[in-house]
Amino acid sequence: MTVTSKKKKSRTWFLLPTVAVGVIGLWALTPSQSSFKQASTWQRMTQPGTLSSAHASLESNCASCHTSVKGIDSSKCIVCHANNESLLQRQPTSFHANIGSCKECHIEHQGRAHRPTAMDHAALAYIGLQQLSDGEVDSENAALRSLLLNRLGRGAAPHSQISPTEAILNCSTCHANDDRHFTLFGEDCAQCHMTIKWTIPEFRHPSSQSRDCAQCHQAPPSHYMMHFKMISQKVADRPHAQVEQCNECHQTTSWPDIRGVGWYKHH
Ligand code: HEC
Ligand code: HEC
Ligand code: HEC
Ligand code: HEC
Ligand code: HEC
Ligand code: HEC
Ligand code: HEC
Repeated sequence: MTVTSKKKKSRTWFLLPTVAVGVIGLWALTPSQSSFKQASTWQRMTQPGTLSSAHASLESNCASCHTSVKGIDSSKCIVCHANNESLLQRQPTSFHANIGSCKECHIEHQGRAHRPTAMDHAALAYIGLQQLSDGEVDSENAALRSLLLNRLGRGAAPHSQISPTEAILNCSTCHANDDRHFTLFGEDCAQCHMTIKWTIPEFRHPSSQSRDCAQCHQAPPSHYMMHFKMISQKVADRPHAQVEQCNECHQTTSWPDIRGVGWYKHH
């Protein structure tokens, strides 16, 4: 459904130059009164808005991104943007190595001030789903499929702040490095998170009196070494507390804010 309407859109673009020539022709023949209006209509139609400042130099070279038959041609983007090492090496953006479509997230013609780099998770899921339904098995598809495994066939989104489309993404393929929870909460970030920001406004942290800290928090490796006996227990003045009893020594404000002792400074 959506696929068809998108194709229609790019065909419209293909037709535009013809329309524009028609309007210019008309403009030359009409009385000067109405010429201003027609000129601006013509500009609006061929030029939907100025390009971002990064692409400003391409303003007079529409064909560097557009192809008359296909609309935006991703291979033209790739000609200029292949081998962007920092992009391909960063976990959340390494999908660029395999993605075959660009215009969904890099929207153009929004003016010089607009940076065309906003992440669109739903668009990503949509591209992945299309690849799946195309059914071609090649390395590109395999890589894109690995972003989707999570909830395919598992039904509804886990909570209201994530859309069913976004929720099919396998968040940890791209965000494992952002995991604050040391994998204690599993790989399926979408169980609790949305895609706009990591904070969860309605989350209320358990009280400092809770004894369940270890359910949600992992102690640093030092706590399982001699350091614990020689430093941690001494600093906290809790020589008998076991590692799992975090609340004996810690509070919920901040980890170095040791209970009954105050702020622990290194060195
Ligand atoms: C840096 C690449 C780039 C250049 C150069 C560029 N465009 Fe675009 N243009 C885009 C992108 C990306 C879209 C969004 C495509 C989409 O939504 O399907 C777009 C969309 C459009 C559309 C809307 C039609 C549609 O497919 O939705 C028109 C019309 C258009 N461009 C005309 C132009 C014209 C005329 C020029 C030259 C003055 C130009 N573009 C130069 C990237 C570019
Ligand atoms: C003729 C070469 C060329 C083409 C074609 C081209 N770009 Fe660019 N693009 C550039 C240059 C040059 C820059 C600015 C310097 C840089 O960041 O590499 C840039 C910047 C960008 C940026 C960073 C924008 C920012 O504000 O940081 C993105 C994203 C981008 N291009 C995506 C695309 C996409 C998507 C297409 C196809 C629709 C495309 N480019 C087509 C040359 C090109
Ligand atoms: C699903 C969304 C999505 C798709 C599809 C996508 N990108 Fe990106 N791309 C991003 C995001 C998000 C960033 C910015 C990451 C950041 O902020 O570091 C980015 C960054 C970039 C940059 C670097 C911009 C900079 O800051 O220098 C380039 C170049 C780029 N993309 C090109 C492409 C090209 C070419 C394609 C198509 C082959 C493409 N992208 C497809 C989301 C996408
Ligand atoms: C294919 C890679 C990919 C997948 C899969 C993915 N993301 Fe993202 N996500 C990105 C990129 C790229 C950004 C832009 C910021 C960046 O470059 O780090 C981003 C940004 C975010 C942000 C905003 C971060 C910030 O500080 O602004 C959140 C929150 C987020 N993603 C959550 C999720 C969740 C939840 C899922 C699973 C439903 C998910 N993402 C799946 C690539 C991905
Ligand atoms: C069982 C629920 C749950 C799961 C699953 C989960 N988180 Fe969280 N996460 C939370 C809660 C609750 C917070 C605290 C939010 C707050 O304070 O606003 C949080 C906070 C975060 C923060 C810090 C937000 C901030 O800026 O303060 C990041 C980053 C984060 N999670 C990443 C992830 C990633 C990546 C995954 C998946 C690999 C994940 N989380 C899985 C519940 C979860
Ligand atoms: C139900 C799960 C849960 C329990 C139980 C829990 N916490 Fe948390 N706590 C979180 C989440 C989620 C965050 C925010 C993400 C993060 O920083 O890990 C957080 C954040 C914190 C932070 C802030 C970390 C920072 O650097 O900003 C501290 C300190 C903390 N908790 C201590 C405790 C202590 C001490 C206990 C026991 C008294 C405890 N927590 C019990 C889930 C929990
Ligand atoms: C016997 C007291 C004690 C117990 C029990 C304890 N800690 Fe600590 N912890 C400390 C002290 C003291 C420090 C700061 C000095 C140090 O590194 O030992 C610390 C440091 C930390 C830090 C900061 C490390 C860093 O490198 O910044 C974290 C995180 C932490 N503890 C988490 C936990 C968690 C989670 C638990 C429970 C699973 C726990 N601790 C149990 C005393 C304790």
